Amino acid sequence: MTKPEKLIVDGKRLDGRGLNELRPIRFKAGVLKRADGSCYLEFGGNKVMAAVYGPREVHPRHLQNASRAIVRYRYNMAAFSVEERKRPGPDRRSIEISKVSREALESVIMQELYPRSAIDIFVEILQADAGTRVAGINAASVALADAGIPMRCLVSACAVGKVDGELVLDLNKDEDNYGQADLPVAMNQFGEITLCQMDGHMTEEEFGRALDMAIEGCKKLHQMQRQALIEKYGEMVSPAEEAH
Ligand code: CDP
Repeated sequence: MTKPEKLIVDGKRLDGRGLNELRPIRFKAGVLKRADGSCYLEFGGNKVMAAVYGPREVHPRHLQNASRAIVRYRYNMAAFSVEERKRPGPDRRSIEISKVSREALESVIMQELYPRSAIDIFVEILQADAGTRVAGINAASVALADAGIPMRCLVSACAVGKVDGELVLDLNKDEDNYGQADLPVAMNQFGEITLCQMDGHMTEEEFGRALDMAIEGCKKLHQMQRQALIEKYGEMVSPAEEAH
């Protein structure tokens, strides 16, 4: 699409959303038979599959940690996931996203329970439409829970951007292309921010407001993640909620 004159008209975005609205989101936990845990997520135009294996033996063995499980996260975009064919295999972008996504999730995984083992998380982007790293983290978090990996709580993620000078929740592709800033954020249920990156420019005041919007978005995502797990496993009480 060529750059539209305006991305926000009368307080509405081109896809009809208000400034503070997420795209339609649908989680489904436990969709893969051979993975220990999995989740399929549609997040606006993004289609994402997350698969988790482990805790399992570490190969190669020199990567073992005697006191805790190691967590590995591979973010991968399918060749057909984007408009221009994506060259298969890792690149700088996917290596960076894998690293920050792993760090976003590690803080909630009880790695100390499984010394010398590995927890492997695979995130496949089947269709990309902006916000794939946050979509991947949301799906991976549900897949970890589906695998029965002990976690302190779930991690939820969403982005806030700046478009036509206004802060908007959850950028779509056109807003990502033609907007002025993109701020992906991940948060755990204790309110700790576990990922915060930014492309573009915002003032300090805008950054504060954007972070608050992202936190509210993450809370909504958490409810959806929880619902997806309830659909599969029924009502449960998480340790984080018990503590309150
Ligand atoms: O996906 P995310 O917003 O986390 O990361 P990004 O690097 O800001 O990429 C934004 C969007 O650009 C992606 O979601 C894809 O839709 C698109 N993209 C693409 O078309 N081709 C690539 N090789 C990488 C990204």
